Amino acid sequence: MYSLIRQLLFLLPAELSHELTFKGLDIASQVRLLSLLVPKPRSHKVKLMGLEFDNPVGLAAGLDKNGQHIQALSELGFGFIEIGTVTPLAQSGNPKPRMFRLTDSDALINRMGFNNEGVDALVKNVQASRYQGVLGINIGKNKDTPLENAIDDYLICMEKVYELASYITINISSPNTPGLRELQSGSYLTELLDGLKAKQLELLQATGKNTPLVLKVAPDLDQDEVQSISNALLNSGLDGLIVSNTSIDKSLVTGQPHADEQGGLSGQPIFDASLAVQRQFHALLTDKIPLIAAGGIDSPDRAQQRLEGGASLVQVYTGFIYQGPGLISEIADRVATMGHRK
Ligand SMILES: Cc1cc2nc3c(=O)[nH]c(=O)nc-3n(C[C@H](O)[C@H](O)[C@H](O)COP(=O)(O)O)c2cc1C
Repeated sequence: MYSLIRQLLFLLPAELSHELTFKGLDIASQVRLLSLLVPKPRSHKVKLMGLEFDNPVGLAAGLDKNGQHIQALSELGFGFIEIGTVTPLAQSGNPKPRMFRLTDSDALINRMGFNNEGVDALVKNVQASRYQGVLGINIGKNKDTPLENAIDDYLICMEKVYELASYITINISSPNTPGLRELQSGSYLTELLDGLKAKQLELLQATGKNTPLVLKVAPDLDQDEVQSISNALLNSGLDGLIVSNTSIDKSLVTGQPHADEQGGLSGQPIFDASLAVQRQFHALLTDKIPLIAAGGIDSPDRAQQRLEGGASLVQVYTGFIYQGPGLISEIADRVATMGHRK
């Protein structure tokens, strides 16, 4: 059934079909149809960062930037949902078109540029939702905020979402906000992580709630960069790491329609690079900092490789667009049979 729906949706521009899909999902959820149509994944609880995940398959950030569709998404069977990236102020992102399908390789290129309605709107949406599962909230900086002041944007968002989020993801790896990825390097990163960790302690004392902080990195890192990020993570005592965001390396899709579009590449072609970087992090962090894998996961086999490569959870985005919601239970069912690490 999904392949038929997909054929129709893929006739439309990518962003429009995304919006229509959400309209359909929201309606199906409201009339209580969604949970009847979608196969329920086996429950396979995973405990990590002090949280309990119903199954280890999550939705990666960027699909529901404002937290407007949490209820419908939860009925698709995800073990956790990450919303955002959200910034302090609303911003419109880059001009359309800004999302492209590379159907030859089940990939996407996007240069959305953190289009979102701002953190206050997201907070209202989360407060209005009935969802009880694990909710990650992914935060970033506004395009106009200079890099030197980036920490202020992260602190503003962190403070506003702290009590609502199960965990907070610090996104410093989207390629579509100029300069953002520089935050992954040396002194910027140390200062950022130390500042956020201090804020976390302050908020823990004020609220009595511990909300884990997770960093999200790019797959385009060399060994030195992996080493310096790992040192910063260990020194600051961050709670988790998501590997990875989209890639700026388009060499694997050369010659395909849209391959020259600016933006971040996601889906099948980035799987190997994302796994390789994940393995490098795992070798350095061992089990001190848990890993969440994202990047090209579009089958139970690929999810299994990521879990065997040291990840405790997986997230899907592009694979979910190409394969449909059945992918969630396919992966969750596989993981339930493989004696998954916790
Ligand atoms: C259209 C699109 C928008 C995205 N927006 C965000 C975002 O706002 N924040 C973020 O951290 N990652 C964002 N991502 C990256 C995904 O969360 C994910 O890390 C990446 O696409 C790799 O996973 P995949 O190959 O399964 O898509 C976006 C990806 C796509 C395709």
